[in-house]
Amino acid sequence: MQEELDAIRTRAEADIDAAEDLDTLEQLRVAYLGKKGALTSLLKQVGQLEPEARKEAGQAVNAAKEAVQQRLEARREELARVALDRRLEAERVDVSLPGRDAEVGNLHPVTRMLERIEDLFVAMGFEVDQGPEIEDAFHNFEALNIPEDHPARMMHDTFYFDDHWLLRTHTSPVQIRVMAEREPPLRTIAPGRVFRCDSDVTHTPMFHQVEGFVVDEGVTFAHLKGLMKDFLQRLFERDDLPVRFRPSYFPFTEPSAEVDIGCVLCEGTGCRVCKHTGWLEVLGAGLIHPNVFGYVGVDAERYSGLAFGMGVERLTMLRYGVDDLRLFFENDVRFLAQFQKGA
Ligand code: PHE
Repeated sequence: MQEELDAIRTRAEADIDAAEDLDTLEQLRVAYLGKKGALTSLLKQVGQLEPEARKEAGQAVNAAKEAVQQRLEARREELARVALDRRLEAERVDVSLPGRDAEVGNLHPVTRMLERIEDLFVAMGFEVDQGPEIEDAFHNFEALNIPEDHPARMMHDTFYFDDHWLLRTHTSPVQIRVMAEREPPLRTIAPGRVFRCDSDVTHTPMFHQVEGFVVDEGVTFAHLKGLMKDFLQRLFERDDLPVRFRPSYFPFTEPSAEVDIGCVLCEGTGCRVCKHTGWLEVLGAGLIHPNVFGYVGVDAERYSGLAFGMGVERLTMLRYGVDDLRLFFENDVRFLAQFQKGA
């Protein structure tokens, strides 16, 4: 019996070492250690032996079972390790390869310009206010000294909802709202969207304005001139930028002016953008009309005020050298991506 046992054990160990996968190992376990396995049936034979021989034989068979069991375990671990190595090799990652960049979005050039304008005025002590895009005729016109039959209403190409409600045609109604709510001294700007029923290569039905005004004792036209010059030179980052005031007319300011800067594209020598004048109109401005103060209850004897309004798309075009207004509204990412860095 010992001989048979040795033979089975040798064969089992050789089979186990030769096994190349876990399935084969399992089959071997059944063949040697299973209920009908070679070693199990040998153990059954032990029962038929003489009682004296039984103990020794039983121990020998159990020792062989133990040894085969351990060999199986060892081989199983080895195969698992080999399988893992193979997998690691197959799934190897080259950590030296450059990663895939996440795409970084950026602000729309008009938004950048709005933020830039706000920053400059906030640095000069201005507050930032907002008003509704859906306005009433009182704030958009009447309180700005533009009565019902005033020809200036015609010039505004207004989107009306009805007799009362409209889309604001400018940011000037925010002047009215702020003056009606707060006491002077006031120093505030109001950026926002405005709407005009107008659409061609140089006009869009929606565009952005920044309104600004100061109400205090002793505000003069000299303050307006100094403020506008300072602002425009900072906006274009040029201390020597020429700024000039031309007489103009707005119903809500008196006197009124249009403000020009020396053409930033041709340096004043004359080009298509400045229509060969060397100047670009960038602002409307003036001293707040006493009639406007009358509508909002500001004492015109005690206080005076300056006001100005600018178109943001136009300033953005001049600042960044954009030559077509429509580019701002098409949202072509190739265009927008050009405004990633810098002011
Ligand atoms: N509201 C005027 C416009 O839209 C601009 C302006 C604002 C003029 C304030 C003077 C004072 O054209």
